[in-house]
Amino acid sequence: MDRFVITGPTALAGRVRASGAKNAALPALAAALLTDQPLTLHRAPRVRDLRTMRRLLDHLGIGSEESRADTDAGGDAVLHLRRTGQSSPHDAPYDLVKTMRAGVLVLGPLLARHGYARVSLPGGCAIGVRPIDQHLKGLAALGADVRLAHGYVETRAERLRGARFRFDLPTVTGTENLLLAASLARGTTVLENCAREPEVADLARLLNAMGARISGAGGEAIVVEGVDELGGATHTIIPDRIEGGTYLIGAAMTGGDVLLEDASAADLAPLLDKLAVIGAEVAVSPAGIRVRAGTAGGPLRAGDMDTAPHPGFPTDLQAQYMALMTCAEGISTIRETVFENRFQHAPELARMGADVRVDGGSARVHGPTPLTGAAVMATDLRASACLVLAGVAAQGETVVARIYHLDRGYEGMELKLQGLGARVARVPESEAR
Ligand code: UD1
Repeated sequence: MDRFVITGPTALAGRVRASGAKNAALPALAAALLTDQPLTLHRAPRVRDLRTMRRLLDHLGIGSEESRADTDAGGDAVLHLRRTGQSSPHDAPYDLVKTMRAGVLVLGPLLARHGYARVSLPGGCAIGVRPIDQHLKGLAALGADVRLAHGYVETRAERLRGARFRFDLPTVTGTENLLLAASLARGTTVLENCAREPEVADLARLLNAMGARISGAGGEAIVVEGVDELGGATHTIIPDRIEGGTYLIGAAMTGGDVLLEDASAADLAPLLDKLAVIGAEVAVSPAGIRVRAGTAGGPLRAGDMDTAPHPGFPTDLQAQYMALMTCAEGISTIRETVFENRFQHAPELARMGADVRVDGGSARVHGPTPLTGAAVMATDLRASACLVLAGVAAQGETVVARIYHLDRGYEGMELKLQGLGARVARVPESEAR
């Protein structure tokens, strides 16, 4: 278990490029189960969740190899996926799914392609109950027989058939699972109250490149005209807005000046709007998104924030935003409306000097409070990012333990932060004090 040792404070400055979006790459990998033809994915992030998904696919008869694209900026990884076994199992065992909730994404494609799937109920971040009832209701609406037993969900259907289905609430992987499944269903599927996250639209682009007929993805209603088979495709994953947003928050928080290159300002709009409101300078140009703070605009002001499904403020940036608010002047109220139990970073931030009061689903941050380095513990993926940012802003040495959470979703974070001037070192457990 590695840890980060950070010596602060540093005003982050320079250029940084986000890797491909983890949350777009995971369903893209699952799409490989829908075809016998090869799939090539550019800008695949080198993060642990992707390695876990590759292991799962390997078990399911899809081999993957990584190469480095010389033509791509930053030497991005290119993943080549290809079917290796025709008689592979159609199950996703607990051992392969327990650390990563997105393992459930193989359910839809396995069922659509082979008429049967058995998938362990997922694990993932400890940020709430996170049921998958919507995935299952949706698949049942397409004609699947769905049973739960012994920690597994077992589904069967000779051939899925198109149907109209309305999600009770927008779910990102639920929408993706249904898109994957409906692509090979007989007839037309209409999905309503869909998640509108850019990662859903990216999956639809990939599936359409494979021969699917999907329209409306990225909006509330999606229409899928089922086809009999899907072919191979080459696709470039969208940039990771959460990773990129984390560095922009870091710039604002440390009075820095960061240019996020090759990013989508539209996908990051909920964050950029908020940063502008609290007094950071935000400039979007063909070169990228530049965020500066601590200059003419004066100190940052507190700003209330509610997380919400896209195009609301992403829950995956809530923890980082809370770290930012410890540096802003005034009281900010942060409401987490997507997940329960997602304030585990608050007590750790408090150990670094923050004044955060949590009351159920909302937290009040009284700022500014000077942050001081401390030994802290990462509890989940985004909480880890929050603590690392706090460490960069804090006076003295911060040791963030359990960095394996961070490695699930951030490619080389210490290297990217070092590139922005931060003093961050990854220390293997054996060498830690
Ligand atoms: C995805 C992202 C995750 C992000 C989250 C919300 C991936 C791999 N992960 O997770 O990083 O934090 O979206 O933007 O893309 N729910 C149900 N029943 C269901 C499904 C979800 O009640 O069947 C609830 C959840 O408990 C949660 C809310 O719906 O309260 C949203 O969850 P969902 O969008 O499904 O999150 P994930 O797809 O798991």
